[in-house]
Amino acid sequence: MIVLKSRREIDRMKAACTIVAEILEGLRAFVLPGATTYDLDAYASSEARKRNARCAFRGYHNYPNSLCCSPNDQVVHGIPSKNVLNSGDILSLDFGVVFDDFYGDAAVTLPVGEISETAKRLIAATEGSLYAAIDMAVPGNRLGDISSAVQTYVESRGFSVVRDFVGHGIGKNLHEDPQIPNYGFSGKGVKLKPGMVLAIEPMINEKSHEVKVLNDNWTVVTCDGGLSAHFEHTVAITEDGPEILTRI
Ligand code: MF3
Ligand code: CO
Repeated sequence: MIVLKSRREIDRMKAACTIVAEILEGLRAFVLPGATTYDLDAYASSEARKRNARCAFRGYHNYPNSLCCSPNDQVVHGIPSKNVLNSGDILSLDFGVVFDDFYGDAAVTLPVGEISETAKRLIAATEGSLYAAIDMAVPGNRLGDISSAVQTYVESRGFSVVRDFVGHGIGKNLHEDPQIPNYGFSGKGVKLKPGMVLAIEPMINEKSHEVKVLNDNWTVVTCDGGLSAHFEHTVAITEDGPEILTRI
């Protein structure tokens, strides 16, 4: 069941989403060679506390931290560690909070120091596919228009779409209907309506789309060791078009 949100509820979601956006923005300055993802997680936790927001991922199905930190071949759900980041790494950061009963959820992939041309192209393709998808988030379109926009954008640039994980509706729960695959057919799926709020999150691999979960039961990695990137925004569908709630 897809829960539609009123204008007032979307404004409340915007408060949660702005906190997420501010903290992800603040994290950028710390994504440097020599830093650890453990330190990034501590920063995210303390910034959330300052704003009276609860970290959405901590304790979610027993996830141990506030931030998901997924370097290089890690796709999503990487657990913060004391390993240092090195120049040439790429790092996906995924963060969510609950504030005033509503969730916000967003992710970015950032370069550490100087990165390869391939890594730059992968990051640009993933971020570009998110905005191509958001452009389709208008009343009257269908869910498949969003999915297909990601797939077309990414595959035409020679990269591949992760199939085992999807975007999602969001509201008073982190994960609500509908599920949003990053591949599919335009014109198919449920019709988009004002009041739907969607966490659109392309997860894109350099090489094969195949992924596996490590023994920690969280960390998702590419099977072939190729790089992976992830971007996510929480987006409300309104009469006036898409409204990106996790934008500063
Ligand atoms: N953005 C991810 C999602 O929407 C974050 C979930 S991580 C978890 O599924 F730890 F909370 F599971
Ligand atoms: Co999400």
